[in-house]
Amino acid sequence: MSPTSSSRPAAPRIVVLGSLNMDLVLRVPHAPAAGETLLGRSFATIPGGKGANQAVSCAREGAQVRMIGCVGDDDHGRALRQALERDGIDTEALRTDAAEPTGTALIMVEDSGQNRIVMIAGANAGVDLDAADLRTRLEGAAFLVTQFETPMAQVERAIALAHEAGCKVLLNPSPVQAIAEPLWPKIDTLVVNEIEARTLSGLGADSPLEAAAAGQAMRARGIARVVVTLGARGAVAVDADGARHHPALVVQAVDTTAAGDTFLGALATALGEGQSFDEAVRLGIRAAALCIQQPGAQPSIPQREAVLRSPLPPDWIPL
Ligand code: RIB
Repeated sequence: MSPTSSSRPAAPRIVVLGSLNMDLVLRVPHAPAAGETLLGRSFATIPGGKGANQAVSCAREGAQVRMIGCVGDDDHGRALRQALERDGIDTEALRTDAAEPTGTALIMVEDSGQNRIVMIAGANAGVDLDAADLRTRLEGAAFLVTQFETPMAQVERAIALAHEAGCKVLLNPSPVQAIAEPLWPKIDTLVVNEIEARTLSGLGADSPLEAAAAGQAMRARGIARVVVTLGARGAVAVDADGARHHPALVVQAVDTTAAGDTFLGALATALGEGQSFDEAVRLGIRAAALCIQQPGAQPSIPQREAVLRSPLPPDWIPL
């Protein structure tokens, strides 16, 4: 029986190193131009941060998740910690830094559902790994999941430690920065959007065919699998067997915030369960389609049961 139907494989263990932000969300008709004053529609504070969102997505897909990160000793930090704990995420390695405020992200969501995000790292910049502790946490884990919203030196150390420990690394290099050459072969799965694919490969990624070429160029640097997410056009999966275009589901976007994080959590959990790369990408596409139909980051991330009840995307197309 397929694991995407009714049977439930054992919960994979996933360690997430990453950011926690309180999202300050402004709903606006459109992004204001320079010098323009605009009447917005609403304001809300919503738990977010790429690391925390990806941890929540993994947990709602059924993984056992440990979060490594840093918050400030303030109301936002306490709310973010509690939000993770409500999803059953282990926050033992979530540090509180009394000297810095919790990270924040100012997010403008336009009527079209598109967003613009500015992040202030705050306490996220204080992540400081204890190598022995991380090694213990990585034991038996299916994946280390990480991004670039915590200091690069710490992300690089964590990837090296995970590789040494035989734990696969799933990297979402966002906000995009160059990846040091020795790190590439230590990454199992890379998940990038069009902008990140372009920056890291030096090639265009505006169509599925271009994304496939960009993905192949990144694989050639030592990575086993690459996913290039293309928003409303779905995603391109690239591995040793070639490239496949996975079309998206057609839905009305309310807010695209955390769509990539939701996709990634579903992908990581499905891969950790032993599902095939293409089935894992399909699950991610279904999860992201549900996410963008709800406002906010963490509140919009669906549970696995809801994802399994959602429509199936069209079949993938070999490229
Ligand atoms: O990926 C979405 C997230 O990016 C938001 O929740 C915001 O906090 C920024 O980190």
